[in-house]
Amino acid sequence: MELIKDIDLISAEEAQACDFKTTPELSTGKAKKVYIESYGCQMNFSDSEIVASIMKENGYDTTSDVSTADVVFLNTCSIREKAEQTVRNRLVHFNGIKKHKPDMTIGVLGCMAERLKEKLLEEEKIVDLVVGPDAYRELPQLVATAEEGLKAINTFLSREETYADISPVRLNSNGVSAFISIMRGCDNMCSFCVVPFTRGRERSRDPQSIVAEAKNLVENGYKEVTLLGQNVDSYKWSPEENNKARLSKKEKEVSKVINFAQLLEMVAQVSPTLRVRFSTSHPKDITDEVLHTIQAYDNICKYIHLPVQSGNSRILELMNRTYDRDWYLDRVKAIREIVGEDCGISSDMIAGFCTETEEEHQDTLSLMDQVRYDFSYMFYYSERPGTLAAKKYADDIPLEIKKRRLAEIIEKQTQLSLLRNRQDMGKTQLILIDGISKKSNEELKGRNSANKVVVVPAKGLALGDYVRVKITDCTAGTLFGEVLEINPSLT
Ligand code: SAH
Ligand code: SF4
Ligand code: F3S
Repeated sequence: MELIKDIDLISAEEAQACDFKTTPELSTGKAKKVYIESYGCQMNFSDSEIVASIMKENGYDTTSDVSTADVVFLNTCSIREKAEQTVRNRLVHFNGIKKHKPDMTIGVLGCMAERLKEKLLEEEKIVDLVVGPDAYRELPQLVATAEEGLKAINTFLSREETYADISPVRLNSNGVSAFISIMRGCDNMCSFCVVPFTRGRERSRDPQSIVAEAKNLVENGYKEVTLLGQNVDSYKWSPEENNKARLSKKEKEVSKVINFAQLLEMVAQVSPTLRVRFSTSHPKDITDEVLHTIQAYDNICKYIHLPVQSGNSRILELMNRTYDRDWYLDRVKAIREIVGEDCGISSDMIAGFCTETEEEHQDTLSLMDQVRYDFSYMFYYSERPGTLAAKKYADDIPLEIKKRRLAEIIEKQTQLSLLRNRQDMGKTQLILIDGISKKSNEELKGRNSANKVVVVPAKGLALGDYVRVKITDCTAGTLFGEVLEINPSLT
């Protein structure tokens, strides 16, 4: 029992399910206040910045204190059952506050809103408003509707909406690093996954608006951007594809398709002092062209999040991932050859998917050994209603076995992280300082190109500094460095 509790504590699933971000206090003297609590993935956090921007334009400041809020939004995640349970508990909590503040409007946004739709209004009498991820422009009107005591719901999924023209209000920002959404939705149909149902069809955002957002961030002192999408390698934009109706015949003729490698290059060219990261790469779509682009630019970070989910080809087929073990290992080989041995590679893993045998689980462990991941997000399978797997396969691996397999995966990853970190010892690396070390005010932390946290003595350093360091020590989770040079020339 104790073991299972320990596993729960260290598994990324738990961390992700309980981890949420709230809005900071941004007071500009507006009449009303909105409090937003965000769950789930980086794309959801990025959406909350769009929501804050839309609400700001309509007379709302953000607040970090829910008791002062006129409107409370929970931007929710449906990826695993536990994520939804956390939100339900929070709704009960907010309803307690509402008893003393009956005018407060409570809204559910994001993936749970999209998945449960009217059910949320009907079952949970504590929800006043339900808005899916493509309907945020309607939020101010829907809040007004809810305030009149009427049913306020919009879960329409769009084929076009990318919020390209909305300038996000940067929430919880360190002023150094920011996220830019480059696409929305997902056209893959991984059998375990709820995202295609909650986020709708894949669509890419106009590259010019992405470059403009990156330039604006540089002008405001930011040093790092992360380009976000569920499957960035399938980014594809052309005036013709994305804007069919409005183009003249001539415009259609000159229309050029921009793929992810080209977009990456365009953003890298914004400034040599702007670091560029991206997530998530799908193993079936990542091309050698993308790898060559990463290699060609010093400011594109040498780090790829390439979720494998399982190391066994039969399970991968059941998961509908559309690649097998050999294909995946071939992509890793290409990364090592083109980008280099030091390129950081991380993964997502699912333990105990339907019908997984002990040998098939061993295949996941052996693949991890072969790839030598720097880091992984690890989960046990959680059946989601409406997905292909829920319809076709029984969720037949007992919870204790799922948890034991997950524990073995986590243990393997801890060993590999330590092994990979030890390989960095003695090396000189460039890090970007992005925060204070958790353990001591005398130390700051930054990230190296491979996305590993490096802790250094704080003396003489500030947030946003680039620092050349020599790695002197490490644990499985952290590197420790000695400062060699502050803000070296990067051009
Ligand atoms: N688009 C990304 C993943 C987004 S969801 C990709 O394709 O890699 C993030 C991770 O959550 C997934 O990679 C998967 O490992 C995990 N996940 C998704 N659905 C799950 C489920 N039903 N049970 C357990 N883990 C799940
Ligand atoms: Fe889900 Fe698969 Fe799409 Fe990722 S690629 S969001 S796992 S369906
Ligand atoms: Fe969760 Fe939706 Fe992201 S289900 S992981 S918030 S896309």
